[in-house]
Amino acid sequence: MAAIKRAPVEQSGSVLAIGWPDGRQNRFHAIWLRDNAQDDKTRAPGNGRRLITLGDIPASTAIDGVQIDGSGLLLTFMPENRTIRFEANWLLAHAYDQIEVRPQGWLSDTVTTWDQGLSDHVPVADMGALERRGQVLARWLSAIRTYGFAKTTGGEITSGALLKVADLFGSVRETNYGRWFDVRAEVSPTNLAYTGLGLQAHKDNPYRDPVPTLQILYCLENFAEGGLSMVVDGFAAAKKLQRQNPQGFDLLSRYCARFEYAGEAGVCLRARRPMIELAPDGELISVRFNNRSAAPFIDVPFDEMEGYYAAYRQLGEIIDDPKMAVAFKLSPGESFIVDNTRVLHSRTGFSGAGSRWLQGCYADKDGILSTLAALESRS
Ligand code: FE2
Repeated sequence: MAAIKRAPVEQSGSVLAIGWPDGRQNRFHAIWLRDNAQDDKTRAPGNGRRLITLGDIPASTAIDGVQIDGSGLLLTFMPENRTIRFEANWLLAHAYDQIEVRPQGWLSDTVTTWDQGLSDHVPVADMGALERRGQVLARWLSAIRTYGFAKTTGGEITSGALLKVADLFGSVRETNYGRWFDVRAEVSPTNLAYTGLGLQAHKDNPYRDPVPTLQILYCLENFAEGGLSMVVDGFAAAKKLQRQNPQGFDLLSRYCARFEYAGEAGVCLRARRPMIELAPDGELISVRFNNRSAAPFIDVPFDEMEGYYAAYRQLGEIIDDPKMAVAFKLSPGESFIVDNTRVLHSRTGFSGAGSRWLQGCYADKDGILSTLAALESRS
């Protein structure tokens, strides 16, 4: 349990400087503390939702009294003249006076990038064990958060069984392709995924905004020769490009690409987003790469277009490098799930002899993170 050693008020009550026993210090602003008060007049008991707006808190809010009280602090806010308790553990967990300036393309602590080396320890779990919703599910969800990729085994070999994978953590995202779609050879393909040709690793549906953040591909038959599934960590590819060609990385993150799908009647999906997407503070949050759905890029300045294309080509070469890919052959009743904001997928070509029948569906990552957080808080 955290203990507070001292808590002097600074800058006429607008800042509180908390000193911890190990000598560290975290400053908090009075307005931040007041806005984040956990008392039952500020936050609803039970669901914890905030009951007030910022407008209900005086702009001149200052701390007028501090009392260290066991495992927390009693702070008196003026001009409201309200005394509210803050727990030391909560303050430590929410300290913000320590954020260093992070480099462009930094990655969350929850993310581990990977390459072909992951082949030896692909995260995998049996559907029966996952459906018991205990530690096996928590570990599997955690692996998706870490690697953006995991497999399942031992599922039913029936059409629509892939929905049970989505049921583990959330809901299917229905699209114009339906609740799920079949991926199998067809005589008159409107989409290259339905032929026996190999595909370049790609993100699905980059022309959608918001893009589906998860994809599940589930195997019902796989007796054709070839037809290996492959996955590539788009974050690892983007970081490699950044090391080899920092200006190219900058171009792909600074300017929007365009993506479009208008392959069926009544559908014209378009999105304008960068291939390498960074949060405003530089965090690498998405890689959007799909040669089949790329539309003409018209948002790159003329003088930058050649450099942009060189970087686009280089990113494609990195993605095509077999050393970046984990390849595997799905058996009937097996599936894999990818974080579609990050992990690209592909397949090798397969012959017409035999049959290959996969079903795919989309879902969203918030369900993974929510279910995982709930499981982790339970244990
Ligand atoms: Fe795909």
